[in-house]
Amino acid sequence: MDPKRNADKQGDLFAGFRPNFKSFATEAIHVGQEPEQWSSMAVVPPISLSTTFKQHGPGNHAGFEYSRSGNPTRNCLEKAVAALDGAKHCLALASGLAATVTITHMLKAGDGIVCMDDVYGGTNRYFRRIAKELGLDVSFADCTQPALLKAALKANTKLVWIETPSNPMMKVVDIKACADLVHEHSKDTVVVVDNTFMSAYFQRPLALGADICMYSATKYMNGHSDVVMGLVSVNREDLYERLKFLQNALGGVPSPFDCYLCNRGLKTLHLRMERHFKNAMAAATFLEANPRVERVIFPGLPSHPQYEVMKRQCTGCPGMITFNIKGKLEHATVFLKSLKLFAIAESLGGYESLAEHPAIMTHASVPEKDRSVLGISDTLIRLSVGLEDEADIIEDLQQALVAAHPKME
Ligand SMILES: Cc1ncc(COP(=O)(O)O)c(C=O)c1O
Repeated sequence: MDPKRNADKQGDLFAGFRPNFKSFATEAIHVGQEPEQWSSMAVVPPISLSTTFKQHGPGNHAGFEYSRSGNPTRNCLEKAVAALDGAKHCLALASGLAATVTITHMLKAGDGIVCMDDVYGGTNRYFRRIAKELGLDVSFADCTQPALLKAALKANTKLVWIETPSNPMMKVVDIKACADLVHEHSKDTVVVVDNTFMSAYFQRPLALGADICMYSATKYMNGHSDVVMGLVSVNREDLYERLKFLQNALGGVPSPFDCYLCNRGLKTLHLRMERHFKNAMAAATFLEANPRVERVIFPGLPSHPQYEVMKRQCTGCPGMITFNIKGKLEHATVFLKSLKLFAIAESLGGYESLAEHPAIMTHASVPEKDRSVLGISDTLIRLSVGLEDEADIIEDLQQALVAAHPKME
C-alpha cells in the first residue's frame, strides 16, 4: 500500500483502507469531456437533444443515427464512468432497475440466477415476481458466507447477483472470494456487483474479479437527488456487445438532460464521498455510544462483522448507516417524525441527509418472513448521511432520539 496516495485524505479516517485509485479526480473531470470533439470547442459537454442525425448518404453517418442507439451527451457520460470503474465500456440506462432488467435479458428461460439474500427491495421484487414468471430459476443465498453461495450454484446458473454493502443490512461481501468461486464453478457464469452504495470512488468490482459493475446512478454517482438513472460497466467485449444490443433493443435509455446532470455530478464524486464518509463515521460513532440505540451497522466501525473485508476491498465507506433504536415501532416512528434536518424519504446518496424505515418503506415488497430472517425489523432505521455540517447532523440525531425516549438518561 502506498501511504502517499492516502496523504490527502482526512486524518486517520482512511487508515487501513485501500489507497485511492490513481488519477481518479483527474479522470472524472476530463475523460470523455475533450472540447475538441465539438466544433464549438465547448469545455462543458453540450446537451444534445436531437433525436436523429443527418446522414451523408444512406448508412453513411458521423457516428450517430438515432438517439436511443447513441447520443453525444450520453457518450460523454459513458466514457467518464468507464474510466472511473477501470472498465473498457459503460452503458447508461433509464434507471437502476432498467439496468437490472437489461442485464437479466442476457439470459433465457431455464437459466439460473443466484441473488444475494439481502438486496434492494426492487431488485428482490424483480427477480422473484417477474424474472421467475418468465421462466428463470431464481434462488437467494447469503454471499457473505462463500460456502452458502457455492451450495447455491447449479449447472444452469448463468448469473450471480451481489450487492455489497447490502441494502439495508449493510452486509459486506468479499467480491474476489465470490467471483473466484463462481468462475471456478463455470467461467461462463456472469458475476454482477451492484455498486450503488459504494460508488466508483470507493470500490472497483471489476478489478476484484466481477464481470459487470452496475449502479443505480440515482444515488451517489449523480449525487444530487435529481436524476433517476442506471449504469453498467464491463471489460469483456462479448458482454459489452450483448448489453449494447440490449440497451438499444429494449430501449431503456436515459434522456440527454439526465446524462448531462449525472456527468456533472461525477465531477465532484471524490469530494462528496470523502465528506459522506467523514460525516457518517461521526454519526455512527455517536449512535454506537448512545444508550437509546440498540445496535449500529456501519462498515467503517470495527464492530462491523466484515470490517476487515471492507478495508481490504474498498478505499473508504459511504454515508449509509443502519441502526436499531431501542423499543418498538412507535419509538422508531417518533424518532423519524422528530428529525428536523434529515428528511423522511426513500433513496440515498444525495448531498442531503435522509432517513427511512425499511420495513414500511423501501423493503415493504420483501415478504414479511424474509424480512424477519434478514433482521429488517420494526425498530430498524436506515440513514443516508449527507454533506451538511457534522455538528448539525449529530444535534438532529440527538434531539430525535431524546424525543423517542424522553425518560431515558
Ligand atoms: C442498491 C440499489 N440498487 C438498485 C436500485 C434501483 O435503482 P433505481 O431506483 O435507479 O431504479 C436501488 C434503488 O434504491 C438501490 O438502492
